[in-house]
Amino acid sequence: MTTYQTGFLNHFATEAVLGALPVGRNSPQCVPFGLYAEQLSGTAFTAPRAENRRSWLYRLRPSAAHPPFTCYAGAPHLRGAPFNEVPPSPNRLRWDPLPLPDQEVDFVAGLVTQAGNGDGAASGISVHFYAATVSMMRAFFDADGELLIVPQQGALRIVSEMGVIEAAPLQIALIPRGVRFRIELIEGPARGYVCENHGSPFRLPDLGPIGANGLANPRDFETPVAAYEDVDGAYELVQKFQGRLWTTTLDHSPFDVVAWHGNLAPCRYDLTRFNTINTVSFDHPDPSIFTVLTSPSERAGTANCDFVIFPPRWMVAEDTFRPPWFHRNVMSEYMGLIVGAYDAKEGGFVPGGASLHNQMNGHGPDRASYDKAVSAPLAPHRIEGTMAFMFESAHVLAPTRWAVESPTMQLDYDECWSGFAKAELPGA
Ligand SMILES: [Fe+2]
Repeated sequence: MTTYQTGFLNHFATEAVLGALPVGRNSPQCVPFGLYAEQLSGTAFTAPRAENRRSWLYRLRPSAAHPPFTCYAGAPHLRGAPFNEVPPSPNRLRWDPLPLPDQEVDFVAGLVTQAGNGDGAASGISVHFYAATVSMMRAFFDADGELLIVPQQGALRIVSEMGVIEAAPLQIALIPRGVRFRIELIEGPARGYVCENHGSPFRLPDLGPIGANGLANPRDFETPVAAYEDVDGAYELVQKFQGRLWTTTLDHSPFDVVAWHGNLAPCRYDLTRFNTINTVSFDHPDPSIFTVLTSPSERAGTANCDFVIFPPRWMVAEDTFRPPWFHRNVMSEYMGLIVGAYDAKEGGFVPGGASLHNQMNGHGPDRASYDKAVSAPLAPHRIEGTMAFMFESAHVLAPTRWAVESPTMQLDYDECWSGFAKAELPGA
């Protein structure tokens, strides 16, 4: 049974041993029990207060005490910037789910990069699948970005420096840049999606005229309490740094933080708690109404990445084409499906699969969805049992070579928009 503290970006304080957390100061001359104080900075020291993120960790040994890292090729399909293995594609792309490996593969070894943008460390995102059949027996951290983990199959137990999080499908986990963790499988093989956010840390979107409540409410985010391992012996620590993996071996478990305080910490969120807001008259609003978390860019209102979901909801709009409309977007859209069906696609987009619609290239409902929607009676209708999501970025997402050469890529995706009848003008 894991225990959580609630709230998004709160200044938490937690200790696994009574008296371990210094009172009234961060770095006393002598930390209780001889623990080592360490500040973990998630933003520049001088970031504005509202954006500043840091935590103080009190641990059995300093995390600086480690041998050199060496290059490591343990995740053959993991990639980082620059994403130039193949030309960025303007084509609409779609993939079937990634098959589970038939050998023992942990979360790190099973990462497969599908697409990415930006410079890989200070802006942009990378999008990965993960597929794991065994629990990690080592630790990992990502120096290149924050990790938004979206489980699609199998529950995860995420042991982090700052406590333990459990995340099953329909929940997400958010692990700050640099925080060490290992992922254990709770109930068999696990598969899902990872958004590696190289830009500003994810935050809750502003609500504007919506008011003080709605969408993802802050109190539904759950951050673990301090928990630690006092284990001596060889322990592998892998990091992702500038797109490549590096490894070293410690002489102890790195999960030795006995107490911590601050606002930089992993958390989880249950997507079924999202307060969905939509029209009660006509037309449906832009899908930004479904934003759970946003990573802002330097341009106001233009996200480095928005994490958007399409949850179960009532459709009540009058005289309205209810599925997503046809559109061409200056933003680039990567979509995945956790469960059920997406209302713009009657077929081909299945749980565990993915699609990519890049900047300014037209997409929208497939023909079957369109035909159904224009003849459907417009009674209130509930979309049930579904959870699609989108990573939407201001930067074009360039696929990796794996993504465009994988047998999971659907070569006939464009066909879903063929055969639309020509509109008939009067007297024509
Ligand atoms: Fe779209």
